[in-house]
Amino acid sequence: MPSTTSHTPTSAPATQVAREPKSFARPTPTGRERLLGEDELIVSKTDLTGRITYCNRVFERLAGYSEAELLGAPHSIVRHPKMPRCVFKLLWDTIQGGREIFAYVVNLSRNGDHYWVLAHVTPSFDRHGNIIGYHSNRRSPERSGVEAASAVYELLLAEEARHPNPRDATAAGAKLLGQVLDKAGMSYDGWVFSISKSQS
Ligand SMILES: Cc1cc2nc3c(=O)[nH]c(=O)nc-3n(C[C@H](O)[C@H](O)[C@H](O)COP(=O)(O)O)c2cc1C
Repeated sequence: MPSTTSHTPTSAPATQVAREPKSFARPTPTGRERLLGEDELIVSKTDLTGRITYCNRVFERLAGYSEAELLGAPHSIVRHPKMPRCVFKLLWDTIQGGREIFAYVVNLSRNGDHYWVLAHVTPSFDRHGNIIGYHSNRRSPERSGVEAASAVYELLLAEEARHPNPRDATAAGAKLLGQVLDKAGMSYDGWVFSISKSQS
């Protein structure tokens, strides 16, 4: 998903990550949900390709991996099969374009449990305005927001599942997401805020 062509830094990022690619078994979802405390934040940073360069303790606990395992791993280590491809495409297009995005995301813990978050993902810039990495803070979402997001994500997943080729699936999901948002007269961020109304 990430393409680094337009924002490749001229110098190495300050935080070094493992050079060897890390691979982990894909957990089988248990259907059990883990909850993020209302006052807790999951924080992570990545390099330009989405490899984790920083994670906080809350992330380690919810995801079920140690810091040593997470550093250098691709952020897709917590990818849940119920997340539509097109949402990640929108996320990457937005942050690679230098903008922030708010998104509902369901993540998969190491033991197959899942946890929903409301994520705020931003690019990090150097003093010349080049993107040098990405940063995400997630907090506990409203239940009503999770229900609304799940309903839309199910539609997107069903549409994506009709296309065996991943690229076609992403494009078809993105088209449907565009139609859903057009009908609601909202941007994706606007929709996220509308289903998170009772959040401060
Ligand atoms: C800062 C940052 C945070 C991310 N957080 C998550 C996350 O919490 N869960 C997730 O599944 N993907 C996250 N991603 C997106 C992943 O890099 C990846 O695109 C996604 O998991 C889809 O993986 P796939 O292309 O292998 O299907 C994040 C990316 C960035 C740059």
